[in-house]
Amino acid sequence: MLSILITGINGGLGQALAEELAESGYQVYGSHRQALSPQQEKRFSERGIQTLQLDISDETSRQTFSRQLHQALAGKGLNCLINNAGIACPSPLEMANLDDIRMEMEVNVIGLLGLTQLLLPLIRQSSARKTIINIGSISGSLHTPLMGSYGASKAAVVALSNVLRMELKPQGIEVVIVEPGSMNTRIWNKVSGMMQAGDEKHRYQKAISQIHQRASSISESQADFSEYLDCIKHILVCEKPAPLYTTGAEAKRLKALQILLPRRVFDEYLMLRAKLR
Ligand SMILES: NC(=O)c1ccc[n+]([C@@H]2O[C@H](COP(=O)([O-])OP(=O)(O)OC[C@H]3O[C@@H](n4cnc5c(N)ncnc54)[C@H](OP(=O)(O)O)[C@@H]3O)[C@@H](O)[C@H]2O)c1
Repeated sequence: MLSILITGINGGLGQALAEELAESGYQVYGSHRQALSPQQEKRFSERGIQTLQLDISDETSRQTFSRQLHQALAGKGLNCLINNAGIACPSPLEMANLDDIRMEMEVNVIGLLGLTQLLLPLIRQSSARKTIINIGSISGSLHTPLMGSYGASKAAVVALSNVLRMELKPQGIEVVIVEPGSMNTRIWNKVSGMMQAGDEKHRYQKAISQIHQRASSISESQADFSEYLDCIKHILVCEKPAPLYTTGAEAKRLKALQILLPRRVFDEYLMLRAKLR
């Protein structure tokens, strides 16, 4: 049975992925930052998903987690690491809280690389398939207003992934980036540090209101993650996965527009879309 570690499984894409892959016959290990509720523990254990605590932004936590995973795998090696844990701190850059940005980089970039470094010996140890899937974002290759620092962190994930892919290929390890478009998860409800909408005088007010409205209308239970889940399952069985996959109709449409339109026209379109115009 192939083993997979997914970081950040207590909700959103990580949980959907953990449950889908466990259902498909993989041995799934999942990390959670906060303590799981008894219902979550039951739900995961019923599906054979083994859970371990990890704060990816904390080096000591990463080291403890890595030791615990070594023990749980009992010499078997890890076939696939899915770096899913992430945070988003949308804000106009002019007023972005620098401590929030540091944490965004710590979780999305430093934590991702730090954990990957610690787990590479385990991945090398596996006898079958060896894959690292880094969850980036459409914001990593297409930079939109109010998503400046998040986009910078996800662009860094693209750079790290591209280099890791070449450095690890000779060792038989595939490195793949998945860039999902926007999906209904709680990531948008955890926004902190951003100015609250309602300050009429503020020049970014409409753009900020739009983000807050989006967050308040999210219902994870009605979300359709099927294209995203199918993409990850494809990568796991595909002989030669592509370096990068984009999921979501809107993300694909925006990427095509970015290629087709002159840069200034595309900027205008993104500004209108973000309600800066
Ligand atoms: N939803 C989207 O529209 C979208 C689009 C493109 C890319 N993505 C990416 O997809 C991934 C999953 O996001 P999601 O939408 O499923 O959001 P989510 O529901 O908020 O899930 C994020 C996960 O990361 C965990 N996490 C956050 N900080 C952590 C830390 N310091 N240490 C360990 N785990 C931590 C969260 O744990 P807690 O709940 O304890 O904080 C949670 O389990 C992220 O990398 C995100 O950037 C999402």
